[in-house]
Amino acid sequence: MSDRAWWQDGVIYQIYPRSFMDSDGDGVGDLEGIRQRLDYLAWLGVDAVWLSPCFPSPMADFGYDVADYCDIDPLFGTLADFDALVADAHARNLRVILDWVPNHTSNEHTWFVESRSDRASAKRDWYVWRDAAADGGPPNNWQSTFGGPAWTWDEATGQYYLHSFLAEQPDLDWSNPEVRSAMHDVLRFWLDRGVDGFRIDVVHKIGKDPELRDNPVLRGPDGENLGQEHLHEEGHPSAHEYLREVRDVFDSYPERMTVGEVFLLEPERIARYYGRGDELHLAFNFPFLFAPWSARAFGEKVEAFEDALPPEAWPDVVLSNHDVSRHASRYDDAALGDQRERLAALMLLTLRGTPFLYYGEEIGMRDVPVAAEQMLDPVGLNLHPSLGRDPERSPMQWAPGLNAGFTQGKPWLPVAADADTRNVAIEREDPASTLTLYRELLALRRSTPALHRGAYRRLPSHTDILAYERSVEGSRALVALNMGEEARRPALPSARVARGLRTRHGVEMPTDAAHLELAACEGAVLVLD
Ligand code: GLC
Repeated sequence: MSDRAWWQDGVIYQIYPRSFMDSDGDGVGDLEGIRQRLDYLAWLGVDAVWLSPCFPSPMADFGYDVADYCDIDPLFGTLADFDALVADAHARNLRVILDWVPNHTSNEHTWFVESRSDRASAKRDWYVWRDAAADGGPPNNWQSTFGGPAWTWDEATGQYYLHSFLAEQPDLDWSNPEVRSAMHDVLRFWLDRGVDGFRIDVVHKIGKDPELRDNPVLRGPDGENLGQEHLHEEGHPSAHEYLREVRDVFDSYPERMTVGEVFLLEPERIARYYGRGDELHLAFNFPFLFAPWSARAFGEKVEAFEDALPPEAWPDVVLSNHDVSRHASRYDDAALGDQRERLAALMLLTLRGTPFLYYGEEIGMRDVPVAAEQMLDPVGLNLHPSLGRDPERSPMQWAPGLNAGFTQGKPWLPVAADADTRNVAIEREDPASTLTLYRELLALRRSTPALHRGAYRRLPSHTDILAYERSVEGSRALVALNMGEEARRPALPSARVARGLRTRHGVEMPTDAAHLELAACEGAVLVLD
């Protein structure tokens, strides 16, 4: 099927570079560390790695504040290291996806330094500067996602500048064609170096109300302030025009892709960013990520996203990333041990759409609590400790012993307490481990057309069970996921089972799908003859 692209059939693995593998003992992961682990990723069976930002940055938001889009931060290595990483990845059939942060730069980016230097600066209108309101306060009521007003006063030039996140992350003005063209050049810089795609940070924020109108304030029944409706600081239709231009850049190279972080929870609004096949290739299905643990909820989120997407668009599936509590922790139920994460893995790798794995989920990594005095994430420090994102960014657990094999130095965040038993070295050798299950699922997915490209059809079953069929000409698979607390027979249609996997290790496959019985919190994928 020549109309299929690699990123539709493939599986993408997110690496948070600070936390994956440290090759030089400074306690922070780096590109050379990632390069050393490419054989592991190839063995695991993923198709691409997405690296969270590794560009020069003062690290106010750990790299999502970019000071130079066309270089590598010395903490992570050099451009030569990057080229070596791409070459070695490609030699193993692994694609490389970078993280593009178009909405804002670092306040230390030369563009902003110049913009801030003088009201008459040639780059003044690359950012959003405005006079104070009549009372001297900010120009409008917009709030920063990371707390407080979205405006900071600049004493020297006597105006406010806009920042949707930290004051160290001033927003670019995308209505300025010079900004758009400079940011297209950034993409070309990396695409020319062989980068296979980009994850695009908070892409719905590049379109803003040109009049910068106040957001409506939401009121409760007694008039209490419930926060704002995010009406004007994001999602303006101009974003789609800008994205079509971005898409033109990608389309001028073969086989490149984009996945957008459209951080919205209504499928219809997310779907708009696919355009008519002329904007994003993929947009994250975050409603699915935020679903509670229930067969009904997951089924609804999958189908709502499918229904919202334009006919030719391809969905995706994601449960964890560097901004949210890991799903093994979110869905953790002490009495069930690893069963939920195993069931989640089976779901993630058998639904229709490109799966995104977050480093360490394949060994069942959980959030690692970080004491208040060790907290580093600005969200935890500015908003509330419970919102801090350090726990899901803990060092990858490679082996028993010193720092789980992540670093010879002092790790930038604490290593998990269970790292001596939950790690790659041990799980690789254990046929019953979560790592082995992920690897087997990835292999099954790759070798079964129904699983990586087939249509999705929900099958009737008990309310505790999410059951579906995946099928494409000549290839058919049935999946049943029992999310409830009792053993059940999912009542799948009768069909001869050729092979498959179940999340309970060592339990035999039925010869007929209709005979499948699932224990509590068990799932199975049955590939049919
Ligand atoms: C995105 C990133 C997040 C970052 C924010 C600001 O949501 O995923 O890590 O803090 O954008 O750039």
